[in-house]
Amino acid sequence: MSLNQKKENIPSHIAIIMDGNGRWAKQKSKMRLYGHLNGVKSVRETVECAAELGVNFLTLYAFSKENWDRPKKEIKGLMNLLIKTIKKEIPTLMKNKISLKTIGNTQDLPLKCQNNLKEAIETTKDNNHMTLILALSYSSRWEIVEAVKKIIKNKSIHSKINEQIFSEYLTTNKIPDPELVIRTSGEHRISNFLLWQIAYSEFYFSRKMWPDFNKQDLIRAINSYKKRKRRFGKIK
Ligand code: IPE
Ligand code: IPE
Ligand code: MG
Repeated sequence: MSLNQKKENIPSHIAIIMDGNGRWAKQKSKMRLYGHLNGVKSVRETVECAAELGVNFLTLYAFSKENWDRPKKEIKGLMNLLIKTIKKEIPTLMKNKISLKTIGNTQDLPLKCQNNLKEAIETTKDNNHMTLILALSYSSRWEIVEAVKKIIKNKSIHSKINEQIFSEYLTTNKIPDPELVIRTSGEHRISNFLLWQIAYSEFYFSRKMWPDFNKQDLIRAINSYKKRKRRFGKIK
């Protein structure tokens, strides 16, 4: 599979709901954590491929606020994996000139994880080829409520509030809305991801479980996006 019409009309921002790690492992009679471990491979391949294709922003939904309600053992495994991976992937980010950002309530994460994230964000901050945004302890409703709380505190802004100003209070401030949202694992739902930001996004659903998602699948999703007619409520 190759990219249709080369690099024209590549989405500037792709957001991915990386789903299906647990089921992938179960199909292989392995522990769920084995699925998460193998999901890291797909993250690396997707990040490198997106950067290569000229995507400017890639948001990966890695851990939702609701995911804290999973068994302690799975959470612990996931957090340890996150701590290890962030550190290990800094050279890849540097090589591909990718800067790292996070959205979500990262204060909920273990301190070690927060520190590694801070270090990776600081080390990569001048990279300008692509921005990788990790959604961690993220919930879109939480984000919207937090924005409202900040606005309530800032009385001087009340009479000026409009969509533009409101969006500046979200954790995605300065990040353009995603043109394309991909979800793997065959589920057709949003699961509290970027509710405000996806108002006019295109959706692509892949039946593959996340650990099987590869470069070819990303190109397939982008080619599908390229064929869409986006109307934004207009006629032409
Ligand atoms: C996605 O895979 C990763 C996270 C949510 C952390 P899941 O863990 O949701 O895997 P399934 O959907 O149960 O197969
Ligand atoms: C969405 O997947 C969150 C992430 C991919 C991090 P979930 O597996 O948590 O979503 P549901 O429970 O299927 O809606
Ligand atoms: Mg899932």
